[in-house]
Amino acid sequence: MSASAKEIKRVTTHVLHEMKNRGEKISMLTAYDYSMARIVDDSGIDIILVGDSASNVMAGHETTLPITLDQMIYHASSVVRAIHRCLVVVDLPFGSYQGNSKEALNSAIRIMKESGAHAVKLEGGREIKESVERILTAGIPVMGHLGLTPQSIYKFGTYVVRAKEEEEADRLIQDAHLLAESGCFAIVLEKIPAKLASRVAKEVKVPIIGIGAGQGVDGQVLVVHDMLGINNEFQPRFLRKYADLNQIIGDAVKQYIVDVKAKDFPNEKESY
Ligand code: KIV
Repeated sequence: MSASAKEIKRVTTHVLHEMKNRGEKISMLTAYDYSMARIVDDSGIDIILVGDSASNVMAGHETTLPITLDQMIYHASSVVRAIHRCLVVVDLPFGSYQGNSKEALNSAIRIMKESGAHAVKLEGGREIKESVERILTAGIPVMGHLGLTPQSIYKFGTYVVRAKEEEEADRLIQDAHLLAESGCFAIVLEKIPAKLASRVAKEVKVPIIGIGAGQGVDGQVLVVHDMLGINNEFQPRFLRKYADLNQIIGDAVKQYIVDVKAKDFPNEKESY
């Protein structure tokens, strides 16, 4: 754990703003269950995102669209029971906020009340402004998410880098300003050119957290199953693998099978 990670008793949205202002990078990872969240929090992470990527990595769906609000609350409450220090942000799932700010507020309230999480994240720009503002009226902190927004995958059709063209880049810059001015405490930028992300981080006052958005932003986020090499199916250029748990777990399981078949496990010391 870094020196400053030890010093911070609880990460709040205010702490994140201070980190941006003094140039200290913000670390964020996903987690969806108690055991993983305990390890990630004990290691000193600043933010855990209970991402709707749970739909992919936990449930095996092809997209993030099928996961429900009840399922997100289940994952979020497991994470909240594990943590002592980090800020817990929960994705509002597809269909729980789009196009209806009253429903957005009700969904956000359910997440906060039933899971004990600290903030919610919504995908989109100007089209969700009203929902962001309505959620904020209940005192619920909101994180934005621009660039590649997986809940809109059927609109875009592919997972390629976003905002490479000037028109889309200009729209993204305007949306980032609009989200910050509406009261979002931070914004995730996913899979956009590093130069554009760096410009947004310089212009916009709130912390900008990147995933596939280069080094010039205020923090980084990855999906924990990807960076630990549990899930080997997803290998984008922006992903750095910090472990090969797929191999380690597979080897352990194979050895266990060998030991059981050979009647080596359990031995006398492991029996009552
Ligand atoms: O759901 C998720 O994991 C996310 C991150 C990729 C930012 O939204």
